Amino acid sequence: MTTQQPRIWFITGSSRGLGRALTETVLELGDSVVATARKPERLTDLVQQYGDRLLALPLDVTQPFAIQTAVMHALQAFGHVDVLVNNAGYGVFGAVEEVTAPAVRQQFETNVYGALEVTCALLPHLRRQRSGHILNISSSGGFVGFPGAGIYGASKFALEGWSEALAQEVAPLGIRVTIVEPGAFRTAFNGVLRSPAQTIQDYAETSGQMMHWLRQMHGQQPGDPQKAAAAMMQVVDHPDPPLRLVLGADALIQRVAVLLIATISLSILMSQPLHPDAALNLMPSLI
Ligand SMILES: NC(=O)c1ccc[n+]([C@@H]2O[C@H](COP(=O)([O-])OP(=O)(O)OC[C@H]3O[C@@H](n4cnc5c(N)ncnc54)[C@H](OP(=O)(O)O)[C@@H]3O)[C@@H](O)[C@H]2O)c1
Repeated sequence: MTTQQPRIWFITGSSRGLGRALTETVLELGDSVVATARKPERLTDLVQQYGDRLLALPLDVTQPFAIQTAVMHALQAFGHVDVLVNNAGYGVFGAVEEVTAPAVRQQFETNVYGALEVTCALLPHLRRQRSGHILNISSSGGFVGFPGAGIYGASKFALEGWSEALAQEVAPLGIRVTIVEPGAFRTAFNGVLRSPAQTIQDYAETSGQMMHWLRQMHGQQPGDPQKAAAAMMQVVDHPDPPLRLVLGADALIQRVAVLLIATISLSILMSQPLHPDAALNLMPSLI
């Protein structure tokens, strides 16, 4: 059991994977959850087990009216929300050129605009209560670009961009924001990823390899969703939570690699007596 007052969580995409694992952990530890899902009937077993500590609501995060309705029902049922987890998401993979424009837009509708709309629907409430914690589930693809993951990564980079700004805007109002960056976790993610109907042979050795790796890894990913859930719980319990939570050894190594490359590039740059314009030219080739 948590030591403080039980909290109310609002979690999107809780039908399976990380969202389901987090919902279970939160309930086990004594808090209450508004678990939203496109098919809330998938949560029936948890509703039976936890009764009125779990409210399962239908929510497709690409439907603005459904977002307003779910938030209204959550507040009617519990009176307040303490933690919002924008978890709902999926991956569109394939070379940048291969992914169709509608598939790109759909990816952003869910991973970027969906999370943004849910956040904005709850923010007036969080601002009024001068407290709250928002966890936005990004990815290691949200801080490094991988071949074959350009569009998915772009959606997570976008999520990270507005989350970072939001964190600074709402900190003075008592609201915290944490960007969660998981590596590869054993969920349905790789099994349901969307890929182009038509691929281009020229990308077989780059994006094609990534697609092959993702499919091979399905079910073999190193990350355990229960451990991810426990780590998210710890962050929410923390009196001074971090802006970023990197989850999994693979994501941590990638994070460190990105920082190292940037640091080395910067030190090379600063050791050279360059005109500022030349420095600007040099940066892209080094980072
Ligand atoms: N697993 C990984 O390796 C990994 C790594 C980095 C980041 N992530 C991120 O972690 C989050 C959770 O993914 P997961 O790994 O748990 O994958 P998952 O097992 O496929 O679960 C994804 C969840 O998102 C829901 N969802 C998708 N589109 C939705 C929409 N429009 N509205 C509402 N719900 C929607 C799915 O609901 P349905 O059941 O209705 O489809 C499902 O509950 C995602 O944001 C993903 O990008 C995962």
